[in-house]
Amino acid sequence: MPAIVSTIDQLDPGRGRVCDLFAGSGTVSLALSKARPVVAADIQEYSRVLCSALLVPPQIPPGMQHGVAARVRELTSSHDLRQALDPLISYEMECLDRAEGGQMEPLCELIEESPVLLFQSRAAGRAPSALHRAFHESVARLDRGCMLDTPISTFARQFGGVYFSYLQAVQLDLLLNSIHEVPEPLRDIFLAAALSAGSEIVNTVGKQFAQPIRPRRKDGSTKHHLIEQILRDRRRDCLDTYEAWLDRFAHHPRPSHASAAVRGDYRTVLKSLRDVALVYADPPYTRDHYSRYYHVLETMCFREVPEVSTVRVANRLIPSRGVYRQGRHQSPFCIKSQVNGAFEELFRGVQELGVPLVLSYSPQAKVEGSRPRLLTLPEICSMAAAHFRDVRLLSPGPMAHNKLNHAAMNAGLAHEAEVLITCLP
Ligand SMILES: C[S@@+](CC[C@H](N)C(=O)[O-])C[C@H]1O[C@@H](n2cnc3c(N)ncnc32)[C@H](O)[C@@H]1O
Repeated sequence: MPAIVSTIDQLDPGRGRVCDLFAGSGTVSLALSKARPVVAADIQEYSRVLCSALLVPPQIPPGMQHGVAARVRELTSSHDLRQALDPLISYEMECLDRAEGGQMEPLCELIEESPVLLFQSRAAGRAPSALHRAFHESVARLDRGCMLDTPISTFARQFGGVYFSYLQAVQLDLLLNSIHEVPEPLRDIFLAAALSAGSEIVNTVGKQFAQPIRPRRKDGSTKHHLIEQILRDRRRDCLDTYEAWLDRFAHHPRPSHASAAVRGDYRTVLKSLRDVALVYADPPYTRDHYSRYYHVLETMCFREVPEVSTVRVANRLIPSRGVYRQGRHQSPFCIKSQVNGAFEELFRGVQELGVPLVLSYSPQAKVEGSRPRLLTLPEICSMAAAHFRDVRLLSPGPMAHNKLNHAAMNAGLAHEAEVLITCLP
């Protein structure tokens, strides 16, 4: 971060407006916004919400900061959704207690047979078990309360048992239902706190949303080493976590510059920019599509009933294990046949603005087993040189990316995990 900020300060000592074109979590935008106005842009809505809460924080009206959580706490015991999911919530609590006592089997079954959406797509006539009775009863209650296929129960039906405990999923639904009643733009700060809480309590290895936890190995044996994390994550109080995050967002120092957060494709954003002094770009650099890591956050932001991607098993379409949204954004930076064109458009777009570009890129790590990058640094630099007078490579020193805890995917420790390419018009 210091290397990015000081490079930008050197290239634009006048502290003009910077566009962070692939803003993601908003951490770079936030650091830059301390000294200059920032336009934070990204294709994902969750990023716009986070950046809006960080860069353009509203004044929360008195009483409202704790009002939303207090209301949801009240509703947690009485709401029809809580009542409908009660059979699954109680059964899961029993499973967690039994797992704590060393009996993991029922909990493994609950995780593998969830979510409710998967149960609904299965053929009838399976051997009845305590778990299936709980599913059956919860679905019947949802149906009686007209809560199937409505956004108010999206988390309970799609993510309960998979990414969150059933109780957490219901609380997230109730929280999101209340937050989505708050008018824009005030809503963003509440939603940002919910996004952060969801990311903190999610029960996956590595705290991402790309792959649900797998409690058993391929040979069927249970992964006992995961039990502590499963118990800890699934017993986290969702509302306490949310309130702590809202407090953090509400107490962030207020930016002294007029910044903005927008959602959009980088090509459209580049065309719409006015009065920027510099563009900072941190595009994706591997084949892994970012949107798979953020689908749950997008569903939190859009509050609809998303179409879920499916797989065919025994001639039946069932929800994919990760319960991903359909129609997720596939970035051209992650597609071999499109990546050259994507960089071309980035360079051309910034060239047309006539301002410097600072590009972050993670070069191919020279470590066996690391994820291949789509382009090499010489390839990127020579493309940039066709659009800019002066192209330089800066190496801010040894760094290591967050490994997403997936040893097989990102083996070893890559030094020089990130370089900066400065391009002057
Ligand atoms: C390497 S990450 C950026 C991380 C960011 N610098 C941070 O501090 O969190 C790349 C980002 O590019 C975004 N992205 C991918 N394709 C895009 C496109 N076509 N237009 C705009 N943003 C895009 C992704 O959503 C992702 O957030």
